[in-house]
This record gives sequence, C-alpha cells and structure tokens, in this order.
Amino acid sequence: MNLLVNDDYTSMSEQAAAIIEAQIRSNHKTVLGLATGSTPLGLYQSLIEGCHNREISYKDVQTLNLDEYVGLEPTHPQSYHFFMKKHLFSHINLPAAQTHIPDGTAQSLEEECSRYEQLITEIGPADIQILGIGENGHIGFNEPGSDFSGTTQVIQLDPSTRKANARFFNSQEEVPTHAITMGVQSILKSKRILLLASGENKAWAVKKLMDGAIDEHFPASALHQHPDVTLVIDRQAYHLISDESK
Ligand code: F6R
Repeated sequence: MNLLVNDDYTSMSEQAAAIIEAQIRSNHKTVLGLATGSTPLGLYQSLIEGCHNREISYKDVQTLNLDEYVGLEPTHPQSYHFFMKKHLFSHINLPAAQTHIPDGTAQSLEEECSRYEQLITEIGPADIQILGIGENGHIGFNEPGSDFSGTTQVIQLDPSTRKANARFFNSQEEVPTHAITMGVQSILKSKRILLLASGENKAWAVKKLMDGAIDEHFPASALHQHPDVTLVIDRQAYHLISDESK
C-alpha cells in the first residue's frame, strides 16, 4: 500500500487530480470509479479546472459511482445522482450517457444490483477507483461486518454512518436507512485504487488501515488484498501515525 501525505486538503486534492489526469492522458477511454461525500469535493474542483485549463477531455471517459441511497430520486438534492451532477458532471465535457450510478429507486432493487454488477463487468473494471473512508472504516457503503466477497448489494446503513451523514439532511431521521453499494469484491476488481482521507476525524481509520490486519469488522482493511492501492491523505489524517513515530 503506497502512502502520499500532503500538507493540506488542497494539495491532497491536487495530487489526486494529477494522478487521474495522467491516467486520462495515457488512455482517453479511461473508466473512473467515483465516490461522493465531502472528501472528493476538492478533487472534483481540480478536475473541473483541468478540463477547462489543462486540456483534459472527458469525451470518451466512462464513470461508475460507488453507491446511491435507496428511495431518493435523482432530482433529490441529497441523492448521489444530484451530487455528481452538481459537483462534477455538469462542469466537464462528459456525456451523461457515459456516467453510471446505481438507481436507488428501481422497482426491484435486487435486479438493479445485478444490472449494476454486470455493468461493472461490461464497461469496467475501473482503471482508477476513488474511495473515501468512513470514520468506522467503511468503503462505499460497506459497513463493518460486510462480507468481503460481496458484490453490488443493498445494505442497511450503520447508525454511525447515518449520524455522520445527517449533516447533509435536515435531521438524522431524514437520512435513508438503506443504500445500494458496490460490494468489497466489486471495488477490488478495479485496476488501481486511490483512497483519499482528510482531517483529524479520519486519523483513527487511517492508522487502523495502515496497521495492516485484514478484518471484516474494518472494511477498508480488504484493500490489503489489492496490489495497487495508494492512500492520498493530508497531515491531519496522518497525525496518529506521525505522533507514534516521533
Ligand atoms: C461515498 C462513499 C463513502 C464516503 C465516506 C466518507 O460515495 O462511498 O464511503 O467516501 O462515507 O465520506 P466523507 O468524504 O463525507 O467523509
């Protein structure tokens, strides 16, 4: 597992963007695995700048998002469809038909999970998968205790995740109870993984990840089974490791 520690959130975001842009320059038909949440916002801002000022074209790129809340229409401001449009897709030259996000409003969620996993096989795997990490170590919405052999599935959100995500809703009760997420196995199919973490609230999870034990109670630890994972983090997320090494 490679570790890149940046001084702050901005340089972390720019470093991740530079890696993605190098990938797109080397293959204009790149498949990108994308995440939502606060962590990749700076990265997406930097990718938008790259599209406008550094001649990076998304004309032939395809994207596969990790997850979506069950029950939220794509037009709901807290849906991940809405998030991706607002923070990235509507600002770059990426055709809408080449963006893919699980449909949390599908009549049969089971069929939707199979369709999405099939899609990952057809257009993927992702050349680079972007991940954030939950304070409890979740990746995508694979909560502690998730089966590491899982593919795209409906999961019940952990109370701690609903609490963490309540900041985007009017109240914790409004946070959906379920989501569709790529499973750990679907994520591990990606050719390369970039996990971003910023801020002190992620320091425990980053330290536990670097400690190395593979444990289904800590989903991110599954990444030790992948040959090409890079953690792109900032000093605050690194501080429990750096404090120890003093
Ligand atoms: C979002 C996702 C989640 C987030 C994680 C961290 O698509 O898959 O695993 O990456 O909850 O969220 P933030 O970045 O908001 O701290």
